[in-house]
Amino acid sequence: MKTADFHNEPFDEGTLTKLDIFELYAKEWLPVFLSRPTPICKSLHVFDFFAGPGTDSAATWGSPLRLLRQINNYRDQPGWDHVSKHVHLYDGDAQKVAKLKNNISSHKLQLDGIRLDVRALKFQRALEANSNIFADPNAAKLAFIDQFGVSEVGDAVFRTLAGSPRCDFLFFISSSTLHRFADHPAIKQKIERPDDSYHVHRAVCDYYRGLLPPNSEYFVAPFSIKKGANIYGLVFGSAHPLGIDKFLQVTWRKDATSGEANFDIHRDNLVRNQKYLGFKKPTKTDAFEVELETAIRSGAVTSELDVMRICYAHGVKRQHSKDVLAKLKKDGVIKLSFRTPDVANWRSPRPIELLRR
Ligand SMILES: C[S@@+](CC[C@H](N)C(=O)[O-])C[C@H]1O[C@@H](n2cnc3c(N)ncnc32)[C@H](O)[C@@H]1O
Repeated sequence: MKTADFHNEPFDEGTLTKLDIFELYAKEWLPVFLSRPTPICKSLHVFDFFAGPGTDSAATWGSPLRLLRQINNYRDQPGWDHVSKHVHLYDGDAQKVAKLKNNISSHKLQLDGIRLDVRALKFQRALEANSNIFADPNAAKLAFIDQFGVSEVGDAVFRTLAGSPRCDFLFFISSSTLHRFADHPAIKQKIERPDDSYHVHRAVCDYYRGLLPPNSEYFVAPFSIKKGANIYGLVFGSAHPLGIDKFLQVTWRKDATSGEANFDIHRDNLVRNQKYLGFKKPTKTDAFEVELETAIRSGAVTSELDVMRICYAHGVKRQHSKDVLAKLKKDGVIKLSFRTPDVANWRSPRPIELLRR
């Protein structure tokens, strides 16, 4: 579909999956800053940098209306009156912004207590215009970057967002952009299967991680969505383990209902593992389990924190590590005092002792 036609057609199933993930993450993120009587931040800013007109041709809600719906659901929370709440909705196309204003008005989404900032602004300009907010540690930020095919999230933009305090962000990568990445000299030789979008998507996340300062605790997670023959991707970034943990809880909940993202895909690395041969088609979690077990047996995993890092790097929930941990414990390979890693123990993780390889 031509980009100009995007909102003149009904959203397709892949787009709806993406929008649901945007909305569900906002639903998880907002109460972190609104549920406490003494909030952890003075202000809260939600940015939709590629907002569009608000609906598709069938009047299905797009990201800006969904964000407003979610924030409105939290007005009874104890922190509501103690945080200033800002929703910034931008789009480069002035006509779409005019339609968006009409849609906000006709759906009665000009909400009390929320400062709405709806403007025709191109992404780079919008980011610059809000640089003070992105630098402010007392402002919580959530940014959605639902760009078309051309990637606006270059190295400098990624560093700005990742370096911004209390900022979680989610951006879209089209299938064609993923494949352009596959030709990038910095990641070309690292991609095991350049014909496989899942591998490319993971390599793209590794590329972005490589832009971060060495030893920085920052989380980048991919989420792949199948649309026809193509895979496209979301990339999530957060400095906080709770952020990525919530994101993965959301995406896997979404998988369970749509089956769109948890697609089966052949993994070369599984050929080395006899366990899976001939029994069933390997899945994303099978591949993760093989890699987790290998990492544990190599001695590279010494605590629940290391396990969670591997989960987050693979885009799976920490709960997905449970079976591998139980099996290795039963087989006398490791000693540990828990069944599932807990993100609440981030600062003082429980140990895992390797008894034999
Ligand atoms: C995929 S659509 C966004 C869809 C929207 N999130 C929704 O739910 O309806 C991409 C939008 O980006 C806008 N756009 C294209 N280039 C832009 C730029 N450089 N800066 C800001 N917006 C841009 C287009 O006008 C279009 O509305």
